[in-house]
Amino acid sequence: MMLSMISLTAFAFLLFSAFQADVQSEKTMSVAEATFEIPEDIQNILDKSCFGCHNVDATSDKAKKKLLIDQMHELSKIKLVAALGDIRETVENGDMPPQKFLDKFPDKALTAEEAEKLKDWAGKAADDLLK
Ligand code: HEC
Repeated sequence: MMLSMISLTAFAFLLFSAFQADVQSEKTMSVAEATFEIPEDIQNILDKSCFGCHNVDATSDKAKKKLLIDQMHELSKIKLVAALGDIRETVENGDMPPQKFLDKFPDKALTAEEAEKLKDWAGKAADDLLK
């Protein structure tokens, strides 16, 4: 009887801890999700020129290590700000998409207007996160 009381208590405690951990991770997730959403016009630009190499199912490990567009909402705030800064910088410098890729698929290049939109968005989204 005594023994079963102890194990029942232990079980209840385990259950409680698991529940706590769950609540905790849900909280942090929803904060990131609530503050970070890619607007549709930006998503369309990213889909055309960037997503193919920077998503979890892409083939280039190098590109995936640097940026996963479909996982950005899972990043901590500080990493997200850094990723947005990197996007802004690469677009500003004309480094992305890579030239070799554009030689083969010239229609994937960012137009001047798209580059401008992408830079503006990345800058503003980073600023918003830091407010
Ligand atoms: C053809 C594949 C491909 C496409 C398309 C592409 N990238 Fe990349 N990207 C890469 C590769 C490969 C790297 C890693 C380069 C390296 O490590 O030298 C990279 C690196 C990056 C980095 C990290 C830069 C750094 O120095 O840390 C950013 C940010 C980035 N890409 C953003 C973009 C954006 C924004 C677009 C669309 C405008 C884009 N990429 C399109 C392949 C691609």
